[in-house]
Amino acid sequence: MADIRFTETILRDATQSLIATRMPFEKFEPVLHDLDNANYYSLECWGGATFDSCLRYLNEDPWERLRKIKAVCKKTKLQMLLRGQNLVAYKHFPDDVVRAFISRAVANGIDVIRIFDALNDLRNLQTAIDETLKNKAEAQVAVSYTVSPIHNIEYFINLAGEMENMGASSLCIKDMAGILNPVDAYNLVRGIKEKTNLRLHVHTHCTTGMGYMTYLKAIEAGADVIDTAISCFSGGTSQPATETMGHLVKYMGKDSGVNFGALKKINDYFKEVQEEYIKSGLLDPYVLSTDAEALEYQIPGGMLSNLVSQLKAQNAIDRLEEVLHETPRVREEMGYPPLVTPLSQMVGVQAVNNILSGERYKNISKEIKAYIKGEYGKAPGQIDYELSSKVLEGSEPFAGRPADLLLDGMKQGRADTEGIARSEDDVLSYILFPQVALKYFGMRGQKEENKVRYIIQRI
Ligand code: CO
Repeated sequence: MADIRFTETILRDATQSLIATRMPFEKFEPVLHDLDNANYYSLECWGGATFDSCLRYLNEDPWERLRKIKAVCKKTKLQMLLRGQNLVAYKHFPDDVVRAFISRAVANGIDVIRIFDALNDLRNLQTAIDETLKNKAEAQVAVSYTVSPIHNIEYFINLAGEMENMGASSLCIKDMAGILNPVDAYNLVRGIKEKTNLRLHVHTHCTTGMGYMTYLKAIEAGADVIDTAISCFSGGTSQPATETMGHLVKYMGKDSGVNFGALKKINDYFKEVQEEYIKSGLLDPYVLSTDAEALEYQIPGGMLSNLVSQLKAQNAIDRLEEVLHETPRVREEMGYPPLVTPLSQMVGVQAVNNILSGERYKNISKEIKAYIKGEYGKAPGQIDYELSSKVLEGSEPFAGRPADLLLDGMKQGRADTEGIARSEDDVLSYILFPQVALKYFGMRGQKEENKVRYIIQRI
């Protein structure tokens, strides 16, 4: 058993952070065999934004993508990222949908499910953990790391302890913004290793330039697995490079078990893909640079590129600086939620609105209203009084587990898609992203009809 192992993120977080999750299956299919030979702890390849992106932009069935990866990668554990009760979408789903989704994800090939809640509200993790364990997959529970007047090392160590008590198979420190500094990483990893008996994974980004140092100290403190990206898709808003970390581990007199020959093949392959994406403009060199200012703004990789494209689309990229200043202010007023999906989008959109409309909270998005009403769970800190009174208008916020407000959804989903959905997987795609899935189903049908017509013509 190696001393420290790696989770490769090229098929999920690296592409999500650098090229907005726009890599179609065909693009990475030729390299799957090499990925399977690299001897990673796991290959992160599903969940997060990949599900939405497959249906919305790539005309791909995300379930089929997973099965196709599994068909080649037989030795390596396949890992996905799950947003607790939000699954891979942006709102809470009822328990029966959460259970069906997890059960189908495992049936289609997932071995490790990394589960987090944007607010670190443990009630939003319960059902997902329970169902993952029922399906005999690894329930890797993540703390959403952030820094604020209420989030300190002690807070996260205690949280990790509670996650162990909830039945987590392993734990993860999920630093989506790359703001976990090496000193805190050391103390946090040590603290969690002392408090719990579970394997500990550390996840960071290079956004602020801290990533490599953070991993070095995390390894010194006893971390068991780190998340890395193959070198040509590493750095910037992505993860530290797999090969570099592999060499570092060697210099430390430890073993990572990675197959450097396979890593070379993987990197040679993706170098051409990288070049192509830089040429087409899909990979903006901006996201590959170091942004030390993010240490102040605490903007996660994905969020930063979203803000840039949002402002570009509105011809207002010159307002970026103001929006970056507005973001932490909005966050404070919302009780310091960690800036992770969907909260990062919600805070980002509100910050953009506040700046572009010329008046703060002139328009409050329906998601922010729902958050203030307690529909996402408990805010970590106090929500600004003026803001909450404006939204609540005298009513009380909901204090229970948000999913308890929801009625079962599978039966309705099946009824809605009768004659359209071909499988339970289709039903789930529909429940998660109704319009997008229906559009995809229509397109899929058309594509198949064309294929049949073509074959008939040839006969
Ligand atoms: Co990440």
